Amino acid sequence: MARVALVTGGTRGIGAAISISLKGAGYKVAANYAASDEAAKKFSDSTGIPVFKFDVGDFAACQAGVAAVAQALGGPVEVLVNNAGITRDGVMHKMSADNWDAVIRTNLSSCFNTSRAVIDGMRERKFGRIVNIGSVNGQAGQYGQVNYAAAKSGIHGFTKALAQEGARAGITVNAIAPGYVDTEMVRAVPADVLEKIIARIPRGRLGRAEDIARGVLFLVADDADFITGSTMSINGGQHMY
Ligand code: CAA
Repeated sequence: MARVALVTGGTRGIGAAISISLKGAGYKVAANYAASDEAAKKFSDSTGIPVFKFDVGDFAACQAGVAAVAQALGGPVEVLVNNAGITRDGVMHKMSADNWDAVIRTNLSSCFNTSRAVIDGMRERKFGRIVNIGSVNGQAGQYGQVNYAAAKSGIHGFTKALAQEGARAGITVNAIAPGYVDTEMVRAVPADVLEKIIARIPRGRLGRAEDIARGVLFLVADDADFITGSTMSINGGQHMY
């Protein structure tokens, strides 16, 4: 029986590539989104992947959203990919409290909200796969991103702690730290700044969303059972540690 996989922010950018590759590998995929109905409809029409609108920053919405996915897809969520994320870049001395809160809520609290909604079932069934999408900027920091770097760095700590809790119950929890990937989010970086960033990527190009999806597929496989608490960097060599 195909496993049900939920990808947050799964209709655009990296999330869309993850949803599509999971479907291609035989998973029953649900793609969550919050902002763009138009993009979600287009994605669903072209891929046949059902979409579920809820705010991952809202605890109750995640409980209801996960339940709706299980009901619609005919089985519990056994694979969770926490991919949803936003940027509100700006230097600290110009950053508003709202832009701090929005990024922490959507990028980090979301991981708690969705994981909390699936963890009891995963523990009961003694199987689960959780992959959290962090960032090179959570590992290395980034000028103009104290909010984003803090949230993404938090994801890496979250991953290691939950991996320890899940291990005995057959639940693996891993993170991927993408570098700069060619998506709307990265294209929003000022062109001159982006040019300098690309110049520092040894591979000499931006990542492709599919480069990240490849890592997700590897980590969620049934036989990836011994891989937990790890962070896979997929960044073209931009940052190594
Ligand atoms: N290191 C040191 N100084 C820097 C710098 C850096 N990396 N970047 C900018 N500065 C300096 C500039 O040289 C400038 O100095 P002067 O005033 O002396 O000329 C000063 O900081 C102000 O720069 P800006 O004019 O760019 O200031 P701004 O307030 O208009 O914008 C910013 C600042 C919002 C941080 C803008 O530079 C920016 O958007 N940077 C990109 C941030 C980034 O990489 N975001 C990643 C988004 S994608 C993503 O997050 C996905 C992922 O996971 C990888």
